Amino acid sequence: MNTIIHTENLTKTFKGHVAVDGLNLRVPQGVVYGFLGPNGSGKSTTMKMLLGLTQPTSGDIRLFGRPLTRASRTKLLPSIGSMIEAPPGYAHLSGRENLRIVQDMLGLSTEQIDHALATVRLTQHQHKLVRTYSLGMKQRLGIAMALARDPALLILDEPTNGLDPAGIEEIRTLLVRLAGEGITVMVSSHLLDEIDKMASVLAILSQGRMIFQGTRDRLFEHSVPDLVIETPDARKALAEGVTGTLVDGGIRLSGVGKDRTAEIVHRLATAGVRIHEVRRVAQSLEDVFMDLTGRDGLL
Ligand SMILES: Nc1ncnc2c1ncn2[C@@H]1O[C@H](COP(=O)(O)OP(=O)(O)O)[C@@H](O)[C@H]1O
Ligand SMILES: [Mg+2]
Repeated sequence: MNTIIHTENLTKTFKGHVAVDGLNLRVPQGVVYGFLGPNGSGKSTTMKMLLGLTQPTSGDIRLFGRPLTRASRTKLLPSIGSMIEAPPGYAHLSGRENLRIVQDMLGLSTEQIDHALATVRLTQHQHKLVRTYSLGMKQRLGIAMALARDPALLILDEPTNGLDPAGIEEIRTLLVRLAGEGITVMVSSHLLDEIDKMASVLAILSQGRMIFQGTRDRLFEHSVPDLVIETPDARKALAEGVTGTLVDGGIRLSGVGKDRTAEIVHRLATAGVRIHEVRRVAQSLEDVFMDLTGRDGLL
């Protein structure tokens, strides 16, 4: 399988602060690659380096198998569409006029512009001023601006940020469809939920370091089930030195293996805690994510 984005030890330091720390990205062709991490974990900085917008402090980047250098950047960029941080576009112009600017800059055809507008379902609204657009429409216009050049690679920084569930669903459907057409889509978010259902490969950053890269199934292998104990004596159970939280009808303990389950049940029973039911509950992907990122600053 072709690797579209390949980095070796990609690192960026700002005045001694390591924002991106030795990343080895492997983004295969034609997938939605979810680039996840809490705010400040280095997602935007990484994407800017991939686009040549900021220079790495050290490390190498290969795009489409070619090293990214000042010289190669000019040749590579026409096949890369991107949207970094806030959606672009002039508010006092219409959606169509904004795309017209992209068209002139890149020498695109009118068909390409029409197609991009249709792909993000903005054809109907193309003549309205961007300032009247909803946030979702602005994000979609940003994606259209990135798409108009018919890129082989799309790099989108938090395109679902601030959208309602319907808006997120719309972008999800769009990105999955684009990947199905062979376009490689790298998409970042600080919220796992927003990316989970669209990405087939996930990378998780924490404080500039990559703590996971692989499929969703592989991420689940990191999960240890929770234990739920139903008891009318929940507070007493917690007072017995068992670390957990109160839930409806009992307590919930996270990440408990089989040996510890036996030990905990024995301890509680001996202490006179009435146990009505003990069951294992798989962790949600969100929990796995939280465990991996150490809950550092997640919203
Ligand atoms: N231009 C900059 N100058 C100094 N520090 C920066 C700059 N850009 C980003 N940082 C710092 O680098 C870290 C990563 O930021 P960023 O890449 O924006 O994270 P994310 O996109 O995951 O929220 C943060 O600590 C941020 O404050
Ligand atoms: Mg960011």
